[in-house]
Amino acid sequence: MQAKLQQILEESKAQLQAAASVQEAEDVRVKVLGKKGALTEILKSMGKLAPEERKELGQAANQVRAEIEELLAETFAKLKSAAQEAKFREEKIDVTEPGKTVKLGAKHPVTVTIEEMSKVFKSMGFTLTEGPEVETVFNNFDALNAGPNHPARDWTDTFYISDDVLLRTQTSPVQVRVLQSQEPPIRVFAPGRTFRCDTADATHSPMFHQVEGLVVDEGITMADLKGVLDSFAKQMFGSETKTKFRPHHFPFTEPSAEMDVSCFKCGGRGCRVCKGSGWIEILGCGMVHPNVLKVGGIDTEKYTGFAFGVGVERVAMLKYGIDDIRLMYENDMRFIEQFK
Ligand code: DAH
Repeated sequence: MQAKLQQILEESKAQLQAAASVQEAEDVRVKVLGKKGALTEILKSMGKLAPEERKELGQAANQVRAEIEELLAETFAKLKSAAQEAKFREEKIDVTEPGKTVKLGAKHPVTVTIEEMSKVFKSMGFTLTEGPEVETVFNNFDALNAGPNHPARDWTDTFYISDDVLLRTQTSPVQVRVLQSQEPPIRVFAPGRTFRCDTADATHSPMFHQVEGLVVDEGITMADLKGVLDSFAKQMFGSETKTKFRPHHFPFTEPSAEMDVSCFKCGGRGCRVCKGSGWIEILGCGMVHPNVLKVGGIDTEKYTGFAFGVGVERVAMLKYGIDDIRLMYENDMRFIEQFK
């Protein structure tokens, strides 16, 4: 029996020394100290021995067990820390390695231009508002006083979704929504996408952007319109900029005008950008037609207003010297990066 105990002890020592993993050490433990382990079997069989023998062997067996337990604890500790070290080694990162460069994007010139315009209008007390790109025919045409035979209604000019719904051809329907939902004093601007059935060429795109403006209050006159838009032009294109208003026609304004700004390229002397005239047409505007105010439930005896619509791409192209509108929608980073 003593010899057997010694053998168990020696074997356990050897096996634990050879154990390469926590699992292997655990296997040794089960084999020796587990329920059916070699040492456990011996301890269990003690009962059959004579009391003398039992005492002596019991002490020896307990000692062997204690020794093996100690050895097991040491081996587990050693193997666990080795395993952790290996894991650390595996997860090691080289902090001196050069980083991956992330290429920064740039704002699109249309975004830059809308932001610039927004800043100017906000500084003059206008509030930003928006309307949907999918509009009713009523808001886009009827409510804006466009007669039933207005040429812009033609299906060859307008993207119709159904008889009553279309892709807005202008941001002007936002005026209708504002007039129907707000009480004067009203002072809003509304940037957004607009759509027309145009074949893309250097100056046309079936999708483009406008910024709409609307002011309604007591005693608003053409002088307010001119003052606001002249100030807008000077803030947008430089304080030397001059403005000129030419009579025009829009169904939703009366009187209507187009505003030209003195060419910011040549200062008015005449160049390629202004086609030699010294002036550049920049927006449409006018005093809001009473019929439009009425659709919005506004008392036309008490209130008057003015409105305007600016083409964003046009302003961006003139400002940055872009000679083809299609460049705006090709998403070529070499183009877009120039407007940071
Ligand atoms: N909606 C017009 C267009 O697309 C632009 C415009 C002209 C807007 C005069 C206005 C305005 O608000 O008063 O050509």
